[in-house]
Amino acid sequence: MTIRAVVRGVGHYLPERVVPNAEFEKSLDTSDEWIRSRSGIERRHFAAEGQTTSDLATRAARAALADAGIGASDLDAIVLATSTPDLTFPAAATMVQAALGMEGGFAFDVQAVCAGFIYALANANALIVSGQARRVLVIGAETFSRLMDWEDRSTCVLFGDGAGALVLEAQEGKGIAADRGILAVDLHSDGRFKDILYVDGGVSTGTSGHLRMQGREVFRHAVEKLAATAETALEKLGLSPGEIDWLVPHQANLRIIKGTAQKMGIPLDRVVITVQDHGNTSAASIPLALSIGKERGQIRTGDLLLLEAIGGGLTWGAVILRW
Ligand code: UT7
Repeated sequence: MTIRAVVRGVGHYLPERVVPNAEFEKSLDTSDEWIRSRSGIERRHFAAEGQTTSDLATRAARAALADAGIGASDLDAIVLATSTPDLTFPAAATMVQAALGMEGGFAFDVQAVCAGFIYALANANALIVSGQARRVLVIGAETFSRLMDWEDRSTCVLFGDGAGALVLEAQEGKGIAADRGILAVDLHSDGRFKDILYVDGGVSTGTSGHLRMQGREVFRHAVEKLAATAETALEKLGLSPGEIDWLVPHQANLRIIKGTAQKMGIPLDRVVITVQDHGNTSAASIPLALSIGKERGQIRTGDLLLLEAIGGGLTWGAVILRW
């Protein structure tokens, strides 16, 4: 018998305020046409004043718990992927735990920037298969609008706020690729690339800082590293890209998504694409795409999904799961 971490519920939350590309034309030397053609982004959501990452995460968590048909007291753990926690500490995950009224178990944050949800899934999977937890709420939630330098047109038009969540549950599998649940994980980081994507603030500076990115450099690494980690994850199962029902990539740039899919030979009609509607929401982008992909009727029980992401660090990785 093999214990598998199986998806029991999914949900998401996007803040009410929608900001179309045209809004940036008023204050920056940019255009809707440039943003669309270079990134595929058409609009994004920004959190209201006072609305924090843990607020967004709690809303997504409630939606996922309702979808799973369970309550917070049925959870053993919460793993929250974020680079924009409400405070330096405590972890935003413990704030979500309190907001949900969960009095037992444990909760912690995972910080791997845009690859955060992949890392969080890897952690939750490890907790479940090792028998330390039976039900884990895995959340990706971000308020990247708080990290933007509004005078830097090369970054501030690309990011958005949002949250998505999955409930994972221990279920028995047969130890084969036909099992439901998380089937393979591949993780990487390379700290030598810190300077191409980072925030110039934090505890050592006394400010929360602004996001700085050498976009062209990150782009160059993205397609190559994403296709490589996805292929490694597939090799662990002896599967080929042709056997994947849905590629669910980190939603940073439509050109990166298309480039990776093309490199792997996966046609675009088998890729879940949501970047046009909420921009790059960092660790929230994959669970948002999963939740929206399910709502659209794209992702169905039994489908084989390949998730992949890259972010600051650099950090990157892939997860294969059967929905
Ligand atoms: O989430 C994981 C991390 N992030 C990513 O995966 C993002 C990776 N990078 C990208 O998505 C792309 O590199 C960008 C969308 C950031 C930029 O696209 P690009 O095709 O690489 O453009 P570029 O940086 O090479 O800039 C081209 C031109 C430059 O002008 P010059 O030097 O050619 O005269 C920029 O100054 O576009 C200019 N530019 C803009 N023009 C209008 C940069 N930002 C803007 C803007 N509006 N908002």
